[in-house]
Formats: sequence, structure tokens, C-alpha cells
Amino acid sequence: MRQKFIAGNWKMFTNAAEAERLATAIVLAAGNQTKVQIALCPPFPYLGIVAKAIQGSRVALGAQNLYPAKEGAFTGEVSPAMLADVGCRFVIVGHSERRQYFSESDSFINRKTHAALAAGLKVILCIGETLKEREDGYFKQVVDFHLSAGLVGIDAAKLADITISYEPVWAIGTGKNATPEQAQEAHQFIRHRVAQLLGQPAADKLTIQYGGSVKPDNAASLLSQPDVDGALVGGASLKADQFLAIVQAGS
Ligand code: PGA
Repeated sequence: MRQKFIAGNWKMFTNAAEAERLATAIVLAAGNQTKVQIALCPPFPYLGIVAKAIQGSRVALGAQNLYPAKEGAFTGEVSPAMLADVGCRFVIVGHSERRQYFSESDSFINRKTHAALAAGLKVILCIGETLKEREDGYFKQVVDFHLSAGLVGIDAAKLADITISYEPVWAIGTGKNATPEQAQEAHQFIRHRVAQLLGQPAADKLTIQYGGSVKPDNAASLLSQPDVDGALVGGASLKADQFLAIVQAGS
């Protein structure tokens, strides 16, 4: 049985006080439960604040980005070792906003994945098609490409530290989530392709999150699909009660 994994991607929202309040509220309500793995991914400046708020709980800290180098003259960037140093266990890579606004390529995303794993971080690798790609009938080819390019050089053992997050771009921040059937179809396809690439046992263990307008009212139906193992939550992760309701739906 794969444990459900609910991660909150706070994107470029909150401030120090809100970050502390939000993390504290989540820890108070769900910090000790063992059914669902929870991770909070605040903006870089608030990692330390959230790390402190979740200390001693089962809630994990995640970052939203990294630069794939150990250290160096890369002004403005943050290394995987720095993230681990401030308490991160997870890092998101390949988010569609980074692909779209920062022109991140699949090979660069793959470098980030390797750098994160080398520093002992677990990776949440986001993949997913745009609306046009879906309407033109080739969402599986896009997902397949993101997946195989994202997993270059990853063996079955390393896959254990990777979560795939299927995030159809048309569902992110739009309020228009994929239907449970659409999510299941994509997740089943992803697991099937991972089985072909890295073997069935690794594919069976792989956690595949769904992301894109997950809210309290659609979480249960999405999370009840056999291949939907969790959620990467944007907007609804900024409200403690909504995020907790999604966690509850996964319990
Ligand atoms: P959303 O964002 O829940 O606001 O759609 C999801 C994401 O971008 O990870």
C-alpha cells in the first residue's frame, strides 16, 4: 500500500508571520498523524521559520526550487546542500511555472533532480501537458517525454526518492481540475511507462501525486483513484482549513 503524500506548494505567497501561522496550524491539527505524509514548501526566505514551526512533528519541509551545483559563483541561486542544511527533505523540480516563465528544459530539470538526490533530498518531479497539447490529442506523448527525459540516469533504487507529480497545466490555478477519470488515466499511463523504463516493482512503489486545482470538495474523489497517491496543492495550501481538509480526504 502506497502512503498518500500531500504537499503544499505555497509558490510566491505568504510573509513571515503568515508562514509561521500556517505551518503552526497544520502541525497542531495534523502534525502527529501517520496516515498521510505531509510536506510544506514555502518560499526560500521562510524555510527557516517553517522548519522551526514543524520541528518535532511528522510534517516535512520542502523547497520549491534549487540550482544544480554544489556551490559557486551563481548569484541569487540556492544549492541542494543549503536546502538540506536548513531542514528540507523535499524539493520540487520541473514545475510548469518554471518551465513556462523561466524556460527550464527537461535536461536542466534532470540535472536538478540528480543534484537534489546527491544532496540527500527527495524530489517531487512535476510533469504535465498544456491545454493545447491535450486538445490536439497528444497528452500522453508529452507526459511520456517529460517523464523519460526527467528520469534520464535514474535507476530503480534512485526512483525510491522521487515522487512524480502529474500536473496538467490547464488545471493549475484555474479552478478547473482534471476529473478523477482523467487523473486516473494519466497516472495509470505514467506507472505503466515507469514499469517499462525501470521495472514493475519500482513502478508499483512509485508515489504519483495529482496537482491542479485540488480543493476540499474534489480531493476525496481524486485521491480515491487507484493510481492517485497524493496531491500537490497550490492555492488551497495557503488556507490551513482547506489544506487540512485535503489531508483528511487522503486519510
Ligand atoms: P493549484 O496549483 O492547486 O493552485 O492549481 C497546483 C500547483 O501548481 O502545484
